[in-house]
Amino acid sequence: MTQQGSEPWRLPRGDEVETHESQRVDTTTAHPARMYDYYLGGKNNFAVDRAAADLILDAAPEARTVARAGRDFLARAVRFTAGRLGIRQYLDVGTGIPADGNVHEVAQAVIPESRVVYLDNDPIVLAHARALVSGDPRGRIATGQADLREPEAVLTAPAVRESLDFTQPVAVVLGMVLHFIRDSEDPAGLVARLCAPLAPGSALIVSHITYRSDALKKFAEEVYDRASAPVVPRTHEEVAALLAGLAPVDPGLVRATLWRPEPGTPAPTPEELVNTTVFGAVALKH
Ligand SMILES: C[S@@+](CC[C@H](N)C(=O)[O-])C[C@H]1O[C@@H](n2cnc3c(N)ncnc32)[C@H](O)[C@@H]1O
Repeated sequence: MTQQGSEPWRLPRGDEVETHESQRVDTTTAHPARMYDYYLGGKNNFAVDRAAADLILDAAPEARTVARAGRDFLARAVRFTAGRLGIRQYLDVGTGIPADGNVHEVAQAVIPESRVVYLDNDPIVLAHARALVSGDPRGRIATGQADLREPEAVLTAPAVRESLDFTQPVAVVLGMVLHFIRDSEDPAGLVARLCAPLAPGSALIVSHITYRSDALKKFAEEVYDRASAPVVPRTHEEVAALLAGLAPVDPGLVRATLWRPEPGTPAPTPEELVNTTVFGAVALKH
């Protein structure tokens, strides 16, 4: 395991870049979205992000597999909500830096008229997301800045008001983001408030980090505490509690790789399963 004493996630101040959001992006503190981009093999990360992510990878080499499992689950879940449920509106909160299988790509491949709103609380993510606004012309893509900890502000964000019709089903996407909400911030209450105005037939797509040992949970919390957001890995029971009042479709809340795998995908070995420390679920609002 890499020594933590040198605090490699701290770089000298002054290394900042300007985005066209007219906000300075701090490249001296590791950022979870850019760390996630690094786990997925992306190029939109800085030295400080790679240093923090490498600490996690030293302790938990499966972090890359976990990121990939979360990303692949997201694509299957969107394909399911579009193809099987006919949902054509998506509210993606905690969008992340664009990677393969972005929500609009998957949804519009099934229903070209799909409308997708991407929201994130991080300006660098939005700067990247804006570059994406080129989906199928029959549909619509909008982006905006909003914080999941303020659900009413999310629901009334201009991009949401202009693009989504809440009298029709909407799929709310919370991919790998709820573990950045502390217990003291009431994640279950935030999910309930976000889903309150959804029409029957709407869905919530959730993926959430868990952990395979208490030591690793503590270590991840320490690394991310020094980054710009804390991480809160949760148990199956704790993640299930975030879905209260909603009805998970088969197979329920499971390790992400086990959620409706593509036909022909080899079953994970017991060891792989333990190491896939991310849960996924699609839950319906009746
Ligand atoms: C790990 S990425 C997830 C990307 C994508 N949703 C996925 O599942 O592949 C987490 C994203 O959540 C964003 N995020 C973290 N806390 C947030 C909050 N309170 N409100 C909105 N976005 C948040 C981060 O900026 C980051 O872009």
